Amino acid sequence: MAEIYSEPYHLKINELIDANHKRDIWEFDAFEDGRNLAKIIGEPPEYPLHFSVQNDFNEWWVVLKGSIRISIDSDKEIFAKSGDIIRIPAGNHEIQFTTNLDPCVRLVVTQQGSEQVINTDEIENSSQSRYFSKSTNTTHISLDDVINEFENSPWTSTILEDERNRANLICHNPGMSNNPHWHPAFHEWWTILKGSLTWEVGDNRPVIHAEKGDLIFVPKGFLHKITTVSDETSLRLAITTPEDLHIYTTDDNYAPPPKS
Ligand SMILES: [Fe+2]
Repeated sequence: MAEIYSEPYHLKINELIDANHKRDIWEFDAFEDGRNLAKIIGEPPEYPLHFSVQNDFNEWWVVLKGSIRISIDSDKEIFAKSGDIIRIPAGNHEIQFTTNLDPCVRLVVTQQGSEQVINTDEIENSSQSRYFSKSTNTTHISLDDVINEFENSPWTSTILEDERNRANLICHNPGMSNNPHWHPAFHEWWTILKGSLTWEVGDNRPVIHAEKGDLIFVPKGFLHKITTVSDETSLRLAITTPEDLHIYTTDDNYAPPPKS
């Protein structure tokens, strides 16, 4: 059972994969953030799956390792590789996994009680959906396509936005840090798509060293400073609420102070 952590949390993806290496299909509930349940699912190659999702919220996945081939509602097959995002708008959808050559590990951003009905014969027609506000018809976001939009780093691109979440993809150069800040009202979390970074959170806590595929969760109220420590540019997906209130200065008397 996932929970909302009151302390910073670091999920090391390689340790999780190692712990599950004897299992064909596995699932791990990483955490809740009050809006989402973040879970990790591992699937073997050449394992065709057919299921329906019946959600009243937008669900989305990030391919962390390997790749997947899927079609949604019998549309054209999507080939999604590491770093790519799959968006499944609210409603009823039929999802077909086809033969895939790599084992796949994906982050699934969903909610508790989300229903996945495997191998159903009959799937109801799509109900009214609340669509993602950006590129409504895009179910597959290719990381390469996003990167190719920018000539120079650093850059930030809003990848997803709906009533529940905003997901910004952030590209930083080696040695670069964000402007340290905290959020009084929501928990923030990240998944790393490229490079390695450190998180300095609060006072006197151990520095978090995170690699590609890892998840980092910082509860609301903690000051966070994020630095790219790899020799290559880093890419991280930052998940916040759409309101996204940042506080940057401890001299702000109107704002609650950061937690230690
Ligand atoms: Fe933040």
